Formats: sequence, C-alpha cells, structure tokens
Amino acid sequence: MSKKKLAFSGVQPTGNLHLGNYLGALKNFVSLQKEMECIYCVVDLHAITVFQKPEELRNNVLETVASFLATGLDSEKSIIFNQSAVSGHAELAWILNCVSRMGWLNRMTQFKDKAGADKEKASVGLYIYPNLMAADILLYKATHVPVGADQKQHLELSRDIAQKFNNDFNCKNFFPLPEALIPKNVSRIMSLRDGTKKMSKSEESDYSRINLKDTADEINKKIKKAKSDSEQIPDNLKSLEKKPEALNLLNIYSEISRNSLDKVLIEMSGKEYSYLKTKLAEVLVETIAPVGKEIKKLLGDRSHLEQILKKGKQKANIIAEENLKNIREKVGLI
Ligand code: AMP
Ligand code: TRP
Repeated sequence: MSKKKLAFSGVQPTGNLHLGNYLGALKNFVSLQKEMECIYCVVDLHAITVFQKPEELRNNVLETVASFLATGLDSEKSIIFNQSAVSGHAELAWILNCVSRMGWLNRMTQFKDKAGADKEKASVGLYIYPNLMAADILLYKATHVPVGADQKQHLELSRDIAQKFNNDFNCKNFFPLPEALIPKNVSRIMSLRDGTKKMSKSEESDYSRINLKDTADEINKKIKKAKSDSEQIPDNLKSLEKKPEALNLLNIYSEISRNSLDKVLIEMSGKEYSYLKTKLAEVLVETIAPVGKEIKKLLGDRSHLEQILKKGKQKANIIAEENLKNIREKVGLI
C-alpha cells in the first residue's frame, strides 16, 4: 500500500537558534517543502519539561516562527503552528504513555544528559518527553521526520511505539513507521570551543555557537576566536581524526560553500587555519547575517507572526481531529 508522504518536525522555543539547528534541521525543512506536504511545529510543551519563564516562552515561540520564515519556510506551503494550540498532541501523548514502556524510556540518553546527576529532581515531563515527541509525529501519521543526529534515538522509539500500537490494537499499518531524515555530514555541528560537544543553545559561552541572529561583526569575531589547530591543514580526513575542532570548521565550510569535503581539502591543504577562518567567516556572513536581519524585521510585527500560528493551528487541527477520532476508536474510548 503506498502511503502519502508527509514530513513533520519540531523545534523547541528555547531561544537562540544557531548554526547547528540551521544545518542539522531548518535547511532540510525548507528543501522538503518541494517534495511533500510538511508540518513544522514549535514544540512549546516540550520546552516546559524544563522550567521556562512565561514571558520568555511567549517571546521565544514567536522568535522561532520568525526564524522558520527567515530561513525560507513558506506558511502557504507548510503548516506552521505551536504544539500547545492543538490539544490532540497532549491527548495522544497520554494514550502513548500507556503504550510505551518504562524500559524503553530508561534507555534514552537525552534524558540522562539533561537530568544530570540528580535524576530524582527532574520533572516527570522530561522523562516522558520522547512519548510526546512520538505523539507529535503519529498524530499526523507523518512518514518522514527531518532532524539532527541527536534525535535519532527518539525517532527509533517513535517507531517502536507506532509498531506496538499497531500490534496491540490489531491494526497493521495504522501508524506508518516514521523515517528519520538525518543529513549526512552536518547531522552534528560541534561547539566552536570544544569539538567534542555539540553546538547547543544551552552552552554558557556565546562564543561556542553562531546564532542565527548574530550580526556580521559577531560572526567574524566568533570565527576568529574559534578553536582550530596549530598545524597546517592536511590533505586527508584521516589526519583530522584527533582534531575535532578543525574537522568541524572544515565541515561547516564545506556545507555552507556547497563543496564536498574532499574538494575543500584540496582547496585548503597546506594552508594555515587562519586562511580557512577568513573564508569561512565570509561565507557565513553572506548566508547567516541576512537571516538574522530578517528575523529582527519579522519580530517587529508580532501580530503577523501570531496570525501565521493561528492559520497553522486551524489546518493542523483538522488533520489531528480526524486522526484522533480513529485512534480513540481503535483504543476503545467512547
Ligand atoms: P532543538 O533546538 O533541540 O529543538 O533542535 C531543533 C533541531 O535542530 C533538531 O532537529 C535537532 O536535532 C537539530 N540540532 C540541534 N543542535 C544541533 C547540532 N549541534 N547539529 C545538528 N543539528 C542540531
Ligand atoms: N525533541 C526534538 C528536539 O529537541 C524536538 C521535537 C519535538 C521533534 N517533537 C518532535 C522533532 C517531532 C521531530 C519530530 O530537537
């Protein structure tokens, strides 16, 4: 049976979208618009698994929408909305909490990372976060999920949950098993200060990341200060194995300049890292600085952004309600 292709992805409104989000996820969101129907969700219910100041959360939701639009999402083509506006996410999450197993959640590495040493103090929401993520995807019967590599394990769990639901309720193929779309070379953009850690919103030093809102000046400064290597750039990948910061810079340059890593190594080998940094800063300023300007411009008209969310909510709700009707019936809820 051929199923209609549908992409779904979510981004948490926790501020400071960065180059990792752009290359790992947003850039793919944009190109998928040409291939299939797409639903992009600002996952505010996921964000509150860790305490958020209400006023900041409201601002961050709008800023995430602005970032979606500034990087090229088209609200006429894609459904753009915030998760809490469609109550079906929370309802299906509850049903899936009863399908998912403790043993499965206990294996989730993101919970271990985020909960830290004192798991007893983590919110219950943080623990069952992956079940809500499965609900997001399955509520729309999405077939494709563009994400960065850090979400791979959560996607596998979503497939397990979908499979178990289909088995438990004797409805083979009811939920399609969603396929992760993870970019090959840039699935994990690393911190500019420590090439063993991923670039993240929560890293304390702003010098560890390029934010989508950074100005040309900030981008130049951050790339100049980025950790690299004192030797010359080699002509092969093998020599970069123990130099994660250098590899990360070359990887970013390759992706942004749209040249393969092999080609970049031919261009750069034998040169100092300062040369790479000058070139990298140039292409980053060209690509990211206009995005930052656009985000700031869009944030000047909050009612326009709210309007987009409202329209998206209406469209999402129609699909969600239709699917939920069938889900309730399968489970035996009257
Ligand atoms: P988040 O901001 O955690 O909601 O992440 C939004 C999307 O960006 C997800 O698909 C992540 O997998 C992706 N992402 C986050 N950080 C990185 C990174 N450093 N490299 C590549 N992708 C990332
Ligand atoms: N957990 C994802 C992240 O932190 C965000 C997310 C929530 C998501 N629901 C989703 C991603 C559904 C893809 C599909 O990045």
